[in-house]
Amino acid sequence: MSNVVVVGTQWGDEGKGKITDFLAQRADVVVRYQGGNNAGHTIVFNGEKFALHLLPSGVLSPDKINIMANGMVINPEALISEIDGLKERGITDFDLRISNRAHIVFPYHIELDSAFENTGSDKIGTTKRGIGPTYTDKAFRSGLRMGDLLDLDYFKNRLKAALDIKNNVLKMMNRETINFDDLYQKYLGYREIIKNYICDTSVLLNELLEDKKVLFEGAQGVMLCIDHGTYPFVTSSSPTAASVPLYTGIAPRHINNVLGIIKAYTTRVGEGAFPTEFSNDVADKIRKTGNEYGTSTGRPRRIGWLDLVVLNHTKRVSGITGLSVMLLDVLSGIQTLKICVAYKYKGEIINVMPSIVDHLNECEPVYIEMPGWQEDITEVTSFDELPMNAKNYLNKIQELTGINVKMFSVGPDRKQTIEVEKVL
Ligand code: IMP
Repeated sequence: MSNVVVVGTQWGDEGKGKITDFLAQRADVVVRYQGGNNAGHTIVFNGEKFALHLLPSGVLSPDKINIMANGMVINPEALISEIDGLKERGITDFDLRISNRAHIVFPYHIELDSAFENTGSDKIGTTKRGIGPTYTDKAFRSGLRMGDLLDLDYFKNRLKAALDIKNNVLKMMNRETINFDDLYQKYLGYREIIKNYICDTSVLLNELLEDKKVLFEGAQGVMLCIDHGTYPFVTSSSPTAASVPLYTGIAPRHINNVLGIIKAYTTRVGEGAFPTEFSNDVADKIRKTGNEYGTSTGRPRRIGWLDLVVLNHTKRVSGITGLSVMLLDVLSGIQTLKICVAYKYKGEIINVMPSIVDHLNECEPVYIEMPGWQEDITEVTSFDELPMNAKNYLNKIQELTGINVKMFSVGPDRKQTIEVEKVL
């Protein structure tokens, strides 16, 4: 059966939520494969806004199976509050499955995330949700997983061992230590609420792949990938499509349809290199019209022109087979648009992303300029209805990346998502 991976091609916040929600209507199964509540997207459903951080986008429709896969790190408190939030608004009927191998975020991870951020010079600008320390524990083999909650002796012993070490680290960092009994009791409470959702999602997903349509929902963007992003200013997991088999427990052969979500310009939150960043009246206008403030933290996003060095890098490492260009309407009314087609580094033109972030900081973007369009395009329902200059802009992206624009978006509502070619 057909399936699709939805991947952010920039530094996150490209509008994946909207496309995932759109495609989720056609999918039977929605799988979130990495990250935690560092992510966040707003979905407009029946005229109401829903901010989701952990739950897969299919939860708003009762007939979907929603999987939180093994590649995720899950804060149970945040998860329960998200579930409660939906229930309060009448959304009670959803099918949720949580991988027994997904890692659990504990308060000491959050404490350490903020302690590390406030120490030393290389501030990453994390979301302070404990994501990095939880993935660190996973790699260090000292993490606890959702399935551990189903065996209380095992859970208790592992938590005790982990907390002893963490309390020493917290002391070293002049932070308050955490009492074991309080923490254990708290997590026992969470266990009661979520235990029925926990299962082996790899087994389930392999069965579902036989005859169901599956949508794999990435969080963040490829430039925040721990391997292929602007390291060390990245998150601690890999949003690439290549990580889907590992992070969900399926064979790589299932991954051949990858929709790259790209904003018509670029944004970034947190620190780190951003070659096409600019600040002037036009950037302010884009931030205001595009409502470019973080869904999870409310931080204003940094604004830049579209960067095709980034997009071609993402295409290579993530195998993008189609594009969805988001927030095209936000560029209406701008006289001249710029697209970065290469970088100038130490006097040489390069079109490959340097691996050292300091080198990327020294790169100057090489731009082509294109005339913008003045028309309001928010009512447009097809590619043909776009003003000529907007068509030219999309065509240029296709030409310079060799990837077809399969969808584009001209506003926040579901009906403002235009499909040029069927994706799922
Ligand atoms: P962390 O994921 O909280 O460790 O943060 C690491 C970096 O990734 C920081 O620059 C964050 O701002 C960024 N980041 C994490 N999640 C998102 C997201 O969903 N959208 C945009 N940036 C993100």
